[in-house]
Amino acid sequence: MNTFDIDRTYVAGTYNRAPVEIVGGKGALLEGADGRQYIDMGSGIAVNGFGLGDETWKEAVIAQLNRVQHASNLYYTSPQALLAKALCQKTGMKKVFFGNSGAEANECAIKVMRKYASDKYGEEKRPVIVTLVNSFHGRTLATLAATGQDHFHHSFGPFPAGFRYVQSGDSDGMREALAQGDVAGVMMEMVQGEGGVIPLDRQFVQETVRMAAECGALVAVDEVQTGNGRSGTYFSYEQFGIQPDVVTTAKGLGGGLPIGACLIGEKAQDTLTPGSHGSTFGGNPVVCAGALTIVRRIDEGFLAGVRVRSDLIRQELEGAKGIAGVTGMGLMLGVETEKPASEVLAACRDRGVLVLTAKTKIRLLPPLNIDIDLLKKAVDAIKEAAK
Ligand SMILES: Cc1ncc(COP(=O)(O)O)c(C=O)c1O
Repeated sequence: MNTFDIDRTYVAGTYNRAPVEIVGGKGALLEGADGRQYIDMGSGIAVNGFGLGDETWKEAVIAQLNRVQHASNLYYTSPQALLAKALCQKTGMKKVFFGNSGAEANECAIKVMRKYASDKYGEEKRPVIVTLVNSFHGRTLATLAATGQDHFHHSFGPFPAGFRYVQSGDSDGMREALAQGDVAGVMMEMVQGEGGVIPLDRQFVQETVRMAAECGALVAVDEVQTGNGRSGTYFSYEQFGIQPDVVTTAKGLGGGLPIGACLIGEKAQDTLTPGSHGSTFGGNPVVCAGALTIVRRIDEGFLAGVRVRSDLIRQELEGAKGIAGVTGMGLMLGVETEKPASEVLAACRDRGVLVLTAKTKIRLLPPLNIDIDLLKKAVDAIKEAAK
């Protein structure tokens, strides 16, 4: 049996995999078991921000692997402490809780907002988390409940209670949702990624933050996909002129190893106390040592490079034949094609370019430092495929 057959026989059938087995590569070039090379326009869904086999990241990971691979959170390890410090210094946030995925980071954000409200207003007096219609926050039961898309709310019920959904852009609806006096916090993505790569309206975001503050509710921004340079700034919320109370991130933070982080701002910095939350693997020193090299290198110069690459893609694709429009921020772009996205995706793969989809769009999430010539080649292939 080959890998396809073994996988289909033994791995739970949750994924619609493309018929490609990745066996190697470097940077934004992936190598298939079929001997073909593919240009990577997905980064393992916004994870490999520095591409495959980044030397600085690998060196840090291997050095830590040779020291201590795991110590548990009963003891101190320097990579975890230094990563928390780097994230706080970058953002002005005060504390970081580490988990292993985006969903866990969001679970933590939900717990922080609810416990902050419990501590301040009384046990379970204000448990509601407001999220947006068409959002995506993860696959655990609570983050599925937080996800504002009905089709995720089947088959696994009962879901945790205490979530309320507001249409993105509907400030009156947000005011009403907050006015009921039972809200602990609002959670939103600045660009709805899985929802179709749709940026929120800046004024709506600012009004929401102002209204939440007025009624004593916290605001959490889900930067799981948009974070760590993907949007063209370190976090996408910076481009909306707001300062959230809680920020979650994952994916690109680990450079290819699993990590999730919940960053907590001043108001709620003392909310998590010993025993109130935890994770066996969260903050693993090998993963954190790698992540530290990622965070440290995403500076203004690097981010300018992300924006240059973003502009290049937009200029080439906007108005091209068969392309109805481009949405998104930085190197998180959605391309509306006249042909069905699945057809364009397959045609791209035939041309040696791996892209993703989101709802009706082609979704592009290339490595943030993708070689410009390689990027041009990929964009040409996408244009051909979309014609
Ligand atoms: C915005 C957002 N939040 C949360 C998640 C869940 O992250 P994970 O799959 O690491 O649990 C995702 C994953 O796509 C995401 O895009």
